[in-house]
Amino acid sequence: MRWSGMQRGDNRYFQRKKVTVVGSGNVGATAAFLAAQKELADIVLLDVVEGVPQGKALDMFEASPIQGYNVNLRGSNDYADTAGSDLVIITAGIARKPGMSRDDLIATNVKIVADVTAKIVKHSPDCILLVVTNPLDAMVYAAKKVSGFPRSRVLGMAGVLDSARMRSFIAAALEVSIEDVTAFVLGGHGDAMVPLARYSTVAGIPITEMMSAEEVQAIAERTAQGGAEIVKLLKTGSAFYAPGAAVVEMAEAILKDKNRILPCAALLEGEYGINGYFMGVPCKLGGGGMEGVIELDLTDAEQAAMQESLASVKKLVADVDTLGHF
Ligand code: NAI
Ligand code: 2OP
Repeated sequence: MRWSGMQRGDNRYFQRKKVTVVGSGNVGATAAFLAAQKELADIVLLDVVEGVPQGKALDMFEASPIQGYNVNLRGSNDYADTAGSDLVIITAGIARKPGMSRDDLIATNVKIVADVTAKIVKHSPDCILLVVTNPLDAMVYAAKKVSGFPRSRVLGMAGVLDSARMRSFIAAALEVSIEDVTAFVLGGHGDAMVPLARYSTVAGIPITEMMSAEEVQAIAERTAQGGAEIVKLLKTGSAFYAPGAAVVEMAEAILKDKNRILPCAALLEGEYGINGYFMGVPCKLGGGGMEGVIELDLTDAEQAAMQESLASVKKLVADVDTLGHF
């Protein structure tokens, strides 16, 4: 038997898009596994802990014959292995435990995110950065500062997760398929997030026409507390299946240049009357990353809710600026 036209080891493995996931913990590993199953790209899992990214990448590779996906998976502690990544997902940092808010993580995580971003940018100067680490709206701001990338190439994941939670609760309450339910959650990824009932629908019908105001309010409140609900149950960490799936929905939109309209944490430059802060807004997500912001006409109440959410984001950003690291 002879192979013609190629040699084994001739690097054909690396012709696909390349994604690096920094932080091989719960969210990072879940996102990597889901992305591999969708054959989105070759994947490098990176972590500071020796052996963990290597072990998880090997484990996922060994699942591939059963699941039937063809991607290269590599675990590493060395940023040289991340070189030339198209997309880098940053999940490195600590997660909250019961009694902690997302904001309590700031001092530890800003140091980690700043360090990770600097190393990533050195090896992948043209990549798109997708930040997941909490407190999200401040960590994505830090990544933007350190990278110096244009706003199209630095974005944060939160709205897709928060909207998915809202969609799940609507589907369960109305006993309809989640396939027919859409929802939009805007604002920061904190207790003051802004679930937009008016733009949340079942087969195009606003939920405000299908539920009482009290039911809508209960769903909005459960959505805003969705992260804390899981933390309370898990006791040792925070959610990761839905966050991993949310990351992959955004990654797929970028890697396949899908021009999806998804709620993303994007740097606002005057949209919604906000300048210089990352907030969750509807964005066009495609091959260039965050390709545009859709500005909705908000009611007075919705605008007030956005301003309240902005106030928490501003406080976090002020803390990040004080802590430095860039
Ligand atoms: P985890 O503790 O399971 O994993 C974090 C990983 O980061 C660990 O493996 C750790 O070794 C690694 N790490 C720490 N410092 C590092 C560094 N300097 N370089 C590389 N790796 C480093 O935590 P989990 O559950 O995966 O959450 C990760 C982060 O994502 C947390 O901050 C969490 O709050 C946040 N998160 C954000 C969500 C969002 O909607 N934006 C949703 C879910 C989690
Ligand atoms: C969540 O919402 C912890 O931010 C994370 O589950």
